[in-house]
Amino acid sequence: MIRPVFGILVFLAIFHFPATESRRHQKTTSGIEFSALNCRKHSAVLTDFGGVGDGKTSNTKAFKKAISKLSQMASDGGAQLVVPPGKWLTGSFNLTSHFTLFIQKGATILATQDESEWPVIAALPSYGEGRDETGTARFNSLISGTNLTDVVTTGRSTVRDSTGGINSKRSNSCTNTLIEDCHIVSGDDCIAVKSGWDQYGIKFGMPTQQLSIRRLTCISPKSAGVALGSEMSGGIKDVRIEDVNLIDTESAIRIKTAPGRGGYVKDIFARRFTMKTMKYVFWMNGNYNSHPKGYDPKAFPEVSNINYRDMTAENVTLSASLDGIEKDPFTGICISNVTISLSAEPKKLQWNCTNVAGVTSRVKPGPCSLLPEKHVDCKFPTDLIPIESVVLKKCFI
Ligand SMILES: *[C@@H]1O[C@H](CO)[C@@H](O)[C@H](O)[C@H]1NC(C)=O
Ligand SMILES: *[C@@H]1O[C@H](CO)[C@@H](O)[C@H](O)[C@H]1NC(C)=O
Ligand SMILES: *[C@@H]1O[C@H](CO)[C@@H](O)[C@H](O)[C@H]1NC(C)=O
Ligand SMILES: *[C@@H]1O[C@H](CO)[C@@H](O)[C@H](O)[C@H]1NC(C)=O
Ligand SMILES: *[C@@H]1O[C@H](CO)[C@@H](O)[C@H](O)[C@H]1NC(C)=O
Repeated sequence: MIRPVFGILVFLAIFHFPATESRRHQKTTSGIEFSALNCRKHSAVLTDFGGVGDGKTSNTKAFKKAISKLSQMASDGGAQLVVPPGKWLTGSFNLTSHFTLFIQKGATILATQDESEWPVIAALPSYGEGRDETGTARFNSLISGTNLTDVVTTGRSTVRDSTGGINSKRSNSCTNTLIEDCHIVSGDDCIAVKSGWDQYGIKFGMPTQQLSIRRLTCISPKSAGVALGSEMSGGIKDVRIEDVNLIDTESAIRIKTAPGRGGYVKDIFARRFTMKTMKYVFWMNGNYNSHPKGYDPKAFPEVSNINYRDMTAENVTLSASLDGIEKDPFTGICISNVTISLSAEPKKLQWNCTNVAGVTSRVKPGPCSLLPEKHVDCKFPTDLIPIESVVLKKCFI
């Protein structure tokens, strides 16, 4: 969602990806070594297309020209666009298939505040109406794409946006996705997982599944580290989240839904979180009521098999607010080996549970009666999702 900018709020998002630039060659755009799924036959630099990295000149046209040119090489070994060191102001642009956006160390992509550089496009079919308060439309995302295959965004990159309320990484009805080694500072959820809105999402029926998030560092004072929903009507399942470091973040994982959403959030596994200065650690809401016209209030969502383990948190106001739906409780919640130390002014009721069922083991402070202590270790899958088993190739430019 794009909103006008008020005051001096600047939200910074830094994505650190596994690509490694060879230190010997960092100063030039040739001689870069990096790891990727697929090495590309062709490569070009943004400045070849008139790009200016002064932080003031708009590079929207340069990005569009470059990607349009490089899209012609999709069937001939693919192409790579290098963004060299500099501050690259831009509006939104679309990626293309068999393509790598390589953002070099020292390169910052700055999202423009000029709204005319954010084209309004049709709402997703799984949303029916846009949620951007623009009728049946929405603003295109900064770096966007539809129906693409074999796309990599990599490097040592910084993406800044000065428009409040952007989810730094948004997964839209995606299968087999890996998000790793990211440092994100956000004014909204660091990672938002979604799959469609109410009757439109139910009808479209395309879940987010097989999602792995690992080695995430997130600062999000007003939102979650990872949010599941609230638009989850196509379903969200088989999500693994591990080795997460949260600092000054509202909540760790937040599950948001409401009657009317339908769909499901199930088979969610999280472990090894280290947290400091949190309003909530665990947060689930069954009353996230924002609906399109004509939604079916009897379309109840299923929230089940939610597993959290091996976590520590310091300076916490409220350990858990777990609020399911009456006659549609959230079930199969398992929380084990979690130690939470409280802030100077903690809430009296540390585990506030309604309409939920499950178990806990070795949690401090002690849990609510709906999640009684059982001697268990909550599950975390031992198999990998397909993308985690891919061996990266060594590539050179
Ligand atoms: C970018 O992609 C969106 C759909 O994702 C499309 O509506 C829009 O026309 C595309 N823009 C350009 C310039 O191709
Ligand atoms: C994406 O693919 C679907 C299904 O093939 C098609 O209906 C839709 O028009 C495509 N969208 C774009 C923007 O190409
Ligand atoms: C603890 O959290 C409060 C906000 O709840 C914050 O103001 C304070 O600085 C934090 N203390 C430490 C030691 O991080
Ligand atoms: C409990 O969690 C901590 C991390 O917070 C981990 O170091 C420890 O090994 C876990 N204990 C067990 C028995 O799994
Ligand atoms: C517990 O949570 C419910 C539902 O969110 C809320 O209405 C209630 O005020 C909370 N109770 C306390 C004591 O915080």
